Amino acid sequence: YGGIIAILVTGGAGYIGSHTCVELLNAGYEVVVVDNLVNSSKESLKRVEEITGKSLRFYEVDLLNRKALTNVFKENNIDAVIHFAGLKAVGESVYKPLEYYHNNITGTLILCEVMREFGVEKIVFSSSATVYGDPKVVPITEDAPLGVITNPYGRTKGMLEQILTDLHTANEKFSVMLLRYFNPIGAHESGRIGENPKGIPNNLLPYITQVAVGKLVCLGVFGNDYDTKDGTCVRDYIHVVDLAKGHVKALEKMMRDPGKVDIYNLGTGIGYSVLDVINAFEKVNDLKINYVFKDRRAGDVPACYADPSLALKELGWKAEKNIEDMCRDSFRWQKANPNGFEEENSDIVVRKDGSVIKK
Ligand code: NAD
Ligand code: UD1
Repeated sequence: YGGIIAILVTGGAGYIGSHTCVELLNAGYEVVVVDNLVNSSKESLKRVEEITGKSLRFYEVDLLNRKALTNVFKENNIDAVIHFAGLKAVGESVYKPLEYYHNNITGTLILCEVMREFGVEKIVFSSSATVYGDPKVVPITEDAPLGVITNPYGRTKGMLEQILTDLHTANEKFSVMLLRYFNPIGAHESGRIGENPKGIPNNLLPYITQVAVGKLVCLGVFGNDYDTKDGTCVRDYIHVVDLAKGHVKALEKMMRDPGKVDIYNLGTGIGYSVLDVINAFEKVNDLKINYVFKDRRAGDVPACYADPSLALKELGWKAEKNIEDMCRDSFRWQKANPNGFEEENSDIVVRKDGSVIKK
């Protein structure tokens, strides 16, 4: 620290952030995390250190607290920022638009102001395939027109893409990476870090894993009358470890080729239906998932998957893990951490073959 160049990871204690910290540390970067723990636990960062055998520096700081954030920049020699921090629950954002706009937009504005004060001119931003709305053509390329976004959460992504682009227009040295994630699932293969949704999950994989361990009784499949191969929605599920590696590649591109606004889709390029995912999960984990068909969920689009070829060409990155890896790793994490990070679960051991035993 001090003289050593560090990467600031906002929201680093969260699901994608913690996996990215692992990849950054493995790649030899110094990592400074800022997180207010509104949707995470610092236990995840302890486990990041345990997985990598390296340490990082953690500040329990809210991005809205300019003074505390300024102090982080004073105490560390930050070279670039990977900005994950934000609220992300689509349904909640409809009921709490003010909280979502304030946290996600104002939080980013304060971050960018403090970056400017300290001359930090590189930011990687977590965007989402949601900015494409209901795509006219799949697979989706980065130059596809932006679509109608159906909720305040998604709109913060669209607005922040524009705001960061405007900052580059005003200062051509300001480097921006807009990474549009498709559907991140899976967990680190150690089973030590993973997704830890509060309450009943909204997203498909956490719901499936909780049915699999008996925490929830039955999965509702939202709609079986879409114009897709089996009537259920098609998505591009990507392993969170692949996604995390994509951030390291994006950071490297920004370092060697600064002063750009770059946009990349981070997906596998393969679309799986909800039933495909259920089948893969059942097969690889050798169990049955209880499910029933329900009505369509408001705001869902029939099919959304990436053309990830630009990221391959310009970042040298592509997703390497398949749907079986994603389903296996999600379930391993869930089994070993039935209550997420709430308990140490110290009586549970994950064997090398992925099986979980009680001591
Ligand atoms: P997450 O909730 O696990 O991580 C976000 C982290 O940000 C949390 O640890 C939370 O405590 C922290 N945070 C929120 N507001 C903060 C604030 N004001 N100050 C400091 N910390 C704050 O979510 P995730 O799934 O890891 O997502 C990371 C980013 O990627 C988010 O911006 C999210 O919108 C975006 N994204 C996620 C997905 C997905 O499916 N998970 C898809 C597309 C985009
Ligand atoms: C959703 C958000 C997206 C956000 C992403 C990650 C919408 C419209 N989009 O993507 O903005 O970036 O989560 O937080 O909300 N499904 C079921 N049963 C369930 C849950 C999901 O059938 O209990 C289906 C959905 O209808 C969808 C698929 O599974 O077809 C994936 O759903 P989900 O995991 O919520 O992701 P998205 O809706 O693609």
